[in-house]
Amino acid sequence: MYGEAQISGNSDRTAFRRAEKKYKLFKTSLGRRKSVKPVDLSEVFDFRAILESYNRDGGTPDGIVRHRCGFDLPVFGFEDRPGFYFIPGALSVEEQCHWIKESLLNFPQPPNRTNHTAIYGPIHELFIEAQKKRVLIEADSLDVDVDSTDFDSINANANAPKWQFCEEGCEVPKAGSCRSISACSLLRKLRWSTLGLQFDWSKRNYDVSLPHNKFPETLHQLAKRMAVPAMSEKEEFRPEAAIVNYFGSGDMLGGHLDDMEADWSKPIVSMSLGCKAIFLLGGNSKEDFPVAMFLRSGDIVLMAGQARECFHGVPRIFTDDENAEISPLVSQLSRQDDLCFLDYIRTSRININIRQVF
Ligand code: OGA
Ligand code: MN
Repeated sequence: MYGEAQISGNSDRTAFRRAEKKYKLFKTSLGRRKSVKPVDLSEVFDFRAILESYNRDGGTPDGIVRHRCGFDLPVFGFEDRPGFYFIPGALSVEEQCHWIKESLLNFPQPPNRTNHTAIYGPIHELFIEAQKKRVLIEADSLDVDVDSTDFDSINANANAPKWQFCEEGCEVPKAGSCRSISACSLLRKLRWSTLGLQFDWSKRNYDVSLPHNKFPETLHQLAKRMAVPAMSEKEEFRPEAAIVNYFGSGDMLGGHLDDMEADWSKPIVSMSLGCKAIFLLGGNSKEDFPVAMFLRSGDIVLMAGQARECFHGVPRIFTDDENAEISPLVSQLSRQDDLCFLDYIRTSRININIRQVF
């Protein structure tokens, strides 16, 4: 499901795949010049433009509804897609910056798992180590006293971290067995982290036996507030887990269903941060033709009820200055201390996807 844009061969079988192919990033190289194939965006719904025109004259385009749900911000949806809610510009630029920093500094911290955990074990302070240009090195290849490898010390070392951060250019034996990777490259390859109850991607289920932190309180409050349009008055949304997705240029999230939670009537609250993306919302089958829409930094989407059973995905993010549409973030993150976050988010998108599991 997660990976580089790789749609090839006889992959145009379904309507969903054809739409992914239409919008995905195609890079062609003509000699030494790399260029991006232009995409026809004329059929992509733009809820910011819909909001602006709604604010002018109170109307919505054909097929678009404004949900009357007593929420303090306008909430839109599609006439023929019950359970789908779009809240354009739901988060202020200050809130966006707060969640970008949390997603980079705190959310990938152990015991939360990331796509790197299975390979390297728990990695602490990845973002900070990347700023320090440090390198993760397999502990076996570091200078250790080989004579002391009796059974006791082997057992004592069984729980020692296998990988450790070192200064760039630190002393490692020249042996061919030395494995290392820079923190910068690990940060670039960070694709997901999980909050609260930990999701096991290999088994595609929640593993309650995995150590985990309590779901972050401020994110809990935000998700509860934002879920209101998709909840009946008597119900309460109880966020228990979140998946944080990190997208770089050329990354996509293939069409999928989130079907691992027990109660599908409860919404998934999904917030977008950073570069603009295209989101595809399909039907119950990949044969159903999906609608495409832009997701910008600060937008929130809710998927509840019937929309929970719909295929969806992100075929494309835009990282070029003209299309990324992150100028409010650029101004907000221009202080010296914040430039490291700006440097990351200029070419990235973060999505925080909050769920009630039970
Ligand atoms: C997901 C998901 C959508 C997005 O993580 O399950 O659908 O906007 N993410 O990134
Ligand atoms: Mn999903």
